[in-house]
Amino acid sequence: MGVFSIFPSRASVAAGEVDALYTFLLVVGGAMTAIIFASVFFFAVRYRRKSPNDPAPKAIHGSLPLEIAWTVIPFLVMLVMFAWGTKLYFQNYTPPLHDTLDIYITGKQWMWKVQYPTGQREINELHVPTGSSVKLILASEDVIHSFFVPALRLKHDVVPGSYQTFWFEPKEPGRYHIFCAEYCGTGHSDMGGWMTVMTPADYENWLAGGANGGSMVELGGKLFQQYGCVTCHVTDHEGRCPSLLNVFGRPVVLDDGRTVMADEAYVRESILNPNAKVVKGYKHDIMPVFEGQISEEGLLQLIVYVKSLSPPTASPAKPAASAAKRSSK
Ligand code: CUA
Repeated sequence: MGVFSIFPSRASVAAGEVDALYTFLLVVGGAMTAIIFASVFFFAVRYRRKSPNDPAPKAIHGSLPLEIAWTVIPFLVMLVMFAWGTKLYFQNYTPPLHDTLDIYITGKQWMWKVQYPTGQREINELHVPTGSSVKLILASEDVIHSFFVPALRLKHDVVPGSYQTFWFEPKEPGRYHIFCAEYCGTGHSDMGGWMTVMTPADYENWLAGGANGGSMVELGGKLFQQYGCVTCHVTDHEGRCPSLLNVFGRPVVLDDGRTVMADEAYVRESILNPNAKVVKGYKHDIMPVFEGQISEEGLLQLIVYVKSLSPPTASPAKPAASAAKRSSK
């Protein structure tokens, strides 16, 4: 794009679409400004008082067609902005249900800690392959941060106690800045890093470079043992606690009649504060409260472990088979 460019480089497919909307806003805004200013000058000159003897012009008191025109036309233009913006927002913040590359990022004063399902961990570095749907699940360990990658045109606050999810499809290999865009303390301006977009082959090489300590599923599985979750969960449906097999990504009926989706936020809440949403048919106050006992990164590992118990491609026949395998061990 040359030495001087108005837009930062584009690392994802959606970045171009955001720029198109931005350009539209800019052109409409610019055009409106030009029309208003041109009219002000034109009327000021055209209808100025040419001599002290000129009579005062006759005032116009309202014109219905004019009123309707300048209400309806801008309204329709705004509706286009609204619809276009909404479409892009939901597109960027609603990851595809399947076949995403999930990467877990924890913000803390003052760094971004990145975990990959395969067990790699980095700080202030994010590696992603082109051509795949990368889903980022963001958490904060302390205060509100904001994850911002200009090249992706994605920015969102990361609020403690909840997860923020968005996704993108990396397009252009390269190195792109990551920022924290929410003032979070004295080290805020240093809280940034780099996203490296690689070709799939390079990415495989990079992954092969090694993870020490096991994959996130393995680490989560260890925590699952360590915190004693295993004594109640994942045995069969007859236990004191609901089985976790094939729960993730599916609707869950609660004892108050509500139905919620078993997503990352739900699993997180159910670990930290199990009584908040109790599954229909199970008792309150059975499971201990883990609030304040597990780190954000540990929680993410547990969530990945719970996810692994619900293979996305599982046909109705498969879960029973894998359950049998697990219980026979
Ligand atoms: Cu984190 Cu600013």
